[in-house]
Amino acid sequence: MLEKLEIEISNTGHYTNSYIYYDDTSKEAIVIDPADRAEKIISYIEKHNLRLKYILLTHGHADHVLAVNTIIKRYRIKVIANINEKNMIIGNITNYSNVFGLIQEKINEDDCIFLNDEDEVKIQGATFKMINTPGHTIGSVCYLLKEENILFTGDTLFSNCFGRCDLVTASIEDIANSLVKLYKNYKDVKVYSGHGDTGMDISKTYESVREELRYNTLVDLNDVLN
Ligand SMILES: [Fe+2]
Repeated sequence: MLEKLEIEISNTGHYTNSYIYYDDTSKEAIVIDPADRAEKIISYIEKHNLRLKYILLTHGHADHVLAVNTIIKRYRIKVIANINEKNMIIGNITNYSNVFGLIQEKINEDDCIFLNDEDEVKIQGATFKMINTPGHTIGSVCYLLKEENILFTGDTLFSNCFGRCDLVTASIEDIANSLVKLYKNYKDVKVYSGHGDTGMDISKTYESVREELRYNTLVDLNDVLN
């Protein structure tokens, strides 16, 4: 069972998609990008009698991590992210908390498990594969939920565009390569993004992403993929 929770970030009018996935039989669960409003996420977990095993982060920006500390302390679990995102997650470089009028949300290194490209995280009935997709940040990743062919893309890929590349550790060249990697290798997945519409076939995102990328980088996905 997959649930999307649209979370408002600290009364800003800015929303992020947090996801809860759980196995119907065992009730083992994973939360992806607990953006804020820990009480909303916790109340869903309690209402459905879930056994939360891990938090997965697509990247370290504040609007994806603000509920992490509350949730990991309550359930005594670890948070999983990419090794290249470590500095942002433990607070060595800005995660743009200040944009939301907040102090930098630091996550204790001891509470983290940092993984590499293609490492897998398993709960009963579900396997999540980490896919390195740098660009929006250097340690941005997608997670492929293998059993359902669902790709959680964070801020790498949205329904009609890709994530901004003008913040610290971002790179437009990197995101171009990451998008090529996704379109080449994950043709039949459904995309569940960090903001906005979700659940679309990845092929539906292609033309608008291609246009935007060509405008910004002169890279034409058609040339690279064919
Ligand atoms: Fe972001």
